[in-house]
Amino acid sequence: MAACEEQQMGDAAPRLPLYRRADVKLHNDTASGTWIILHDSVYDVSSFLDQHPGGEEVLLEQAGGDGTESFEDVGHSRDARELLPQYLVGHLHPDERKNTETKDIFITTTGGLKAGSWTNWLVPVVSIFVILVMYHFYLADPGKDL
Ligand code: HEM
Repeated sequence: MAACEEQQMGDAAPRLPLYRRADVKLHNDTASGTWIILHDSVYDVSSFLDQHPGGEEVLLEQAGGDGTESFEDVGHSRDARELLPQYLVGHLHPDERKNTETKDIFITTTGGLKAGSWTNWLVPVVSIFVILVMYHFYLADPGKDL
């Protein structure tokens, strides 16, 4: 179960071990410890099992494996994410990472419009047309209110 290598992160950062997925898999129950991979980092949640608001069963289901998808599917709060560092025991070996470090959720507000779509041009073209028509009538009869 030993960590394969120490992570070299500079003097200030704590040196946490690098684990292979096979190492994490050995910690898949309460007897051997409950480890879960989240975003390429390894967490030992053994002491958190009975405190988890979602219940210990869901954590035990993910024990020894990668719980990233389930963790994100639940939509854990910022408070939940702030709890993570205290259970961090290491990181996945770079060869086995999925590079899911980014936890930000990007929401697109374009409603599926593609660049170059004709609908992108509709509003400005119609606006210019309306302005030109109004200007035309104004020139024809400048004294009259629009
Ligand atoms: C160390 C890892 C984890 C921590 C620190 C954690 C923490 C929390 C916290 C604080 C909540 C309360 C709601 C919130 O603040 O978002 C919660 C709810 C929950 N968690 Fe986790 N969680 C972890 C891992 C997981 C995993 C791997 C699963 C897998 C399915 C999971 C499933 C759930 C569920 C189902 C709820 C209940 C959501 C609800 O009732 O709306 N959690 N967790």
